[in-house]
Amino acid sequence: MNGRDLVRSVKAVGMVGTAQGLRTVRSSWRRWRADAAGLAPRGPERARVPGTVTGVEPEPGGGVVRFARSELRVRVTAGGAVFWGWDGAGPEPSYALSCGSPEPDPRAVLEPDKEGGWRVVSERATVAVSRHGAVELRTPGGVMLRRDLPPRWWEAEGGAARWVQRSEVAADARFFGLGGRAGGPRLRNGTYRLWNTDPGGSFGPGDDPLYITMPVQMVVADAGTHLVFHDNTWEGEVLVHEGEEGAGSGHDRTGSCEVRMDGGPLRCWAMVGTPARVLHTWASLTGPPALPPSWALGHHHARWGFGSEQEVRRIVAGYQERGLPLDAVHLDIDHYEAHQVFTVDKERFPKLPQFADELRRDGIRLVSIVDPGVKAEPGVALYDSGAAADVFVRDAAGRAVRGVVWPGESVYPDFTDPRAREWWGPLYGERLEQGFSGFWHDMNEPVSFAAFGEATLPRSARHALEGVGGDHREGHNVYGLAMARAGYEGLRALHPDERPFVFSRSGWAGMQRYGGTWSGDVSTGWPGLRASLSLVLGLGLCGVPYSGPDVGGFDGSPSPELYLRWFQLGSYLPLFRTHAAMGAGRREPWEFGDEVLEHARVALAERRRLLPYFVTLAHLARRTGTPYVRPLWWGSPEDRALRDCEDAFLLGDSLLVAPVLEDGVRQRAVRLPRGRWYDTVTGKAYEGPGQVVVDAPLSRVPVLARAGTVLPVRASDGGVELEAWAPAQGRTGGGLVIADAGDGWAEAEIERYTTRWDEGRVVVERDGDESEGAPGRPVGVRGLAG
Ligand code: NOJ
Repeated sequence: MNGRDLVRSVKAVGMVGTAQGLRTVRSSWRRWRADAAGLAPRGPERARVPGTVTGVEPEPGGGVVRFARSELRVRVTAGGAVFWGWDGAGPEPSYALSCGSPEPDPRAVLEPDKEGGWRVVSERATVAVSRHGAVELRTPGGVMLRRDLPPRWWEAEGGAARWVQRSEVAADARFFGLGGRAGGPRLRNGTYRLWNTDPGGSFGPGDDPLYITMPVQMVVADAGTHLVFHDNTWEGEVLVHEGEEGAGSGHDRTGSCEVRMDGGPLRCWAMVGTPARVLHTWASLTGPPALPPSWALGHHHARWGFGSEQEVRRIVAGYQERGLPLDAVHLDIDHYEAHQVFTVDKERFPKLPQFADELRRDGIRLVSIVDPGVKAEPGVALYDSGAAADVFVRDAAGRAVRGVVWPGESVYPDFTDPRAREWWGPLYGERLEQGFSGFWHDMNEPVSFAAFGEATLPRSARHALEGVGGDHREGHNVYGLAMARAGYEGLRALHPDERPFVFSRSGWAGMQRYGGTWSGDVSTGWPGLRASLSLVLGLGLCGVPYSGPDVGGFDGSPSPELYLRWFQLGSYLPLFRTHAAMGAGRREPWEFGDEVLEHARVALAERRRLLPYFVTLAHLARRTGTPYVRPLWWGSPEDRALRDCEDAFLLGDSLLVAPVLEDGVRQRAVRLPRGRWYDTVTGKAYEGPGQVVVDAPLSRVPVLARAGTVLPVRASDGGVELEAWAPAQGRTGGGLVIADAGDGWAEAEIERYTTRWDEGRVVVERDGDESEGAPGRPVGVRGLAG
């Protein structure tokens, strides 16, 4: 029993005597028994390595290299991504790919390499296979980015083969990604588990794994950036070992990483290029990020425990009376009838549809929490309907698996079964009738409260896995992803003219197709604030651009200063939402004194002013896969100092945000990428690359604008105007504007603007179309003092 299990047991003992406590003990016991009966013990294992090359078979885009004890398929695809799979594994079936396997690139062919090996050369990368089965990924210029040593399998009679893949990278390489990790974004030496996990209580930077894990690594080195994805949903772990440079002594130690999986195929996708190119390829492979409706880019207020319509009215009035913008209110499980999904407590929320209408007239949308667990009780309509449709997860003996969640004993729809998704999707009709506009998927790792052992379903539980069939070891990590799909597809069918707004606590590679996520239960404290940023950055590098933390932290009571700094950071992140647990302290901006209120007002006003910029970034994310929030090294991955910088970020191309992540700080060091940067408040110009110290008074966190940039902002009349920042003398610049054409599917137009100096004036022009020259929108030019 590890420390966390112990804590959980102690908590459960505390609950003993309560009905829920007893259920939890019973359910943990059942889980243990189910696995004892349903999972065959692993017999003796035999290790295997590929052996030496015996022959090849060309195929479009590459071919199959045969070894004495395995075979390797290598395929370069038309979009530039490279696939390789052992033991006959091909790209499909896959939960990550959005449209099946992409077409092979006919120009890429298998050819002999040195020392009896083989290689496939393509425009963006070369893959070289040694005669013993090492696979090397090289840049088009031939520089090694990654070298996979020959893999090793352990096979047991009748069981899935475990495997290990060790890889080497350059001494200067840095690892990012692996889903949402609290201790990053740079992944330091350690073991990162691949098993979506509710940490049970709040978490900080030292907690790992969390709700979203994925075998996606972005590796950034002097020689180039690459993304590697091991397409395997099984439980596993990744051991990261950063290299060390011998300070010019010639004794560099290469970095390494080891992927260990408990089963499933050994297959992998690799993408090479700039960070932007790599994520573009990733988004082409796994699907473009869903575009949130524009209201979802405003400010949201949530609370577990509003408890009644009156309380929600009080909070909304609090915002309105103080003139603070508010775009969405989220109702947590306490608005359900006895915590049961797709119900409303009619006593506390007697006229929800009318209330939702009223709010909507004031420009505020309602968002509903949606939990997957269904109360296991005959007579409960949802349970009866799901049982009749036969959509609940079953155990190895064919009985519906019961766990414990908020409504008590619960069963779990098997979202990996298309029939279950078809059953679940239309259920959102009830939510739409209640007036909800957005959906917040929770507890979908999935969670079953545990007195001992893990707080999820038994590993022996069966899943349809799209007809292939398998158990929870394989289905667990994609449960949240498949639930997001069910919700998203259901909403598209119910409301074909509106873009669904879904965000989900758990997920996997490809989840961005259906929506975003949030940090989960981040602990209230300065380390939690730092973890919030790590999660958003890391998820963005795994292709999930829309996320944000619980502003103020999930539990406890933040100090006024911590709350304010969290609020200021949150106002520059895609999902800007205050939220807290039942019993936690207040989170309304006016609850922390007048000074905090005034500074929070400034942050809210600035968020609203930047809304057109956020809309542009959302559209760009959909078109290119580039996250709104990017690490500082995004445009200059070769800058090693930036690679190690984790306390600031780029918001789009135009802005650099340097949040305050420590108590009492009123000035901070900011590392700048190359070029000129203006402090957006003082207008002072700084030259990068390098480090500068800037003021960070309580009233704001430092935000710098890139010289020459153009970004869209909201004008006082509600229209969109351009904010241009003077390019450095003799330089040019520019920016994009994509204005939303409503919350439907109409394709928005891209406006391109350029900036340049002309006879002592800064000229802003629109590029391209018939309106060439005149920008067509009001323009304000800043940064002229410099
Ligand atoms: C756990 C979620 O992470 C949290 O945001 C929510 O408030 C609680 N569940 C209650 O629904």
